[in-house]
Amino acid sequence: METCFLTTFVIILLFCLAETCYGGGVLFSSLPQTLVVSASPQQGQVLNAGEDTITLTWGLNQSFTADMADQLYKNVKVKLCYAPISQVDRAWRKTVDNLSKDKTCQFTIVNKPYQRNQSSDQWMVEKDVPTATYFVRAYAYNSAGEEMAYGQTTDDGKKSSNLFEIRGITGRHLSLNIASACFSAFSLASLFGLFWMERRKVSVKK
Ligand SMILES: *[C@@H]1O[C@H](CO)[C@@H](O)[C@H](O)[C@H]1NC(C)=O
Ligand SMILES: *[C@@H]1O[C@H](CO)[C@@H](O)[C@H](O)[C@H]1NC(C)=O
Ligand SMILES: *[C@@H]1O[C@H](CO)[C@@H](O)[C@H](O)[C@H]1NC(C)=O
Repeated sequence: METCFLTTFVIILLFCLAETCYGGGVLFSSLPQTLVVSASPQQGQVLNAGEDTITLTWGLNQSFTADMADQLYKNVKVKLCYAPISQVDRAWRKTVDNLSKDKTCQFTIVNKPYQRNQSSDQWMVEKDVPTATYFVRAYAYNSAGEEMAYGQTTDDGKKSSNLFEIRGITGRHLSLNIASACFSAFSLASLFGLFWMERRKVSVKK
């Protein structure tokens, strides 16, 4: 079991490294706020992971030139982001201006081609979303996958308005899930091991 956790940890670490290496890293402070985003939860509302649904609406702020945006923006990702109160003492959720290192918005809830008109979508809060306070942010990407613009449901400064809470599925359920996933991986590995040994026996007999 311990080896399994260690393996999982190493895999996660590799993923993190890969993520850091990837991309040029656009600075968040350099992005224009040309998108308008809204999310259905009210300020302070509590949603349950795996049960409640959020309605999202996003589009270009009409004060900006739509033609330029049409040329530049290729797709839009709407993400769930940690509010400052849920980042305190948690380096793994830290806000970094360089977006290739930023950990504020870890859950992509919509990923769609950009279009000029307002789009709307529903998202059921997934079971792996941890208990925390959140806001919603949308990024527009160019054809190279670089962030070009953003929009968010909270204010730009302290990020204190329009925040909502998500109550995650308890830690017990989560660790149980990890344990069973590890167990399945282990069973699969043993199965392959047995198969291989069986094959070897056969070839030795020949
Ligand atoms: C952001 O970080 C990445 C990875 O460390 C680095 O390659 C890139 O130059 C940085 N971007 C800026 C604008 O500092
Ligand atoms: C759209 O952009 C203008 C100019 O930056 C800004 O004053 C306005 O508040 C924005 N509208 C919305 C709905 O965010
Ligand atoms: C976008 O909205 C405009 C005005 O509301 C409408 O005339 C147009 O048909 C819409 N375009 C698409 C692709 O939905």
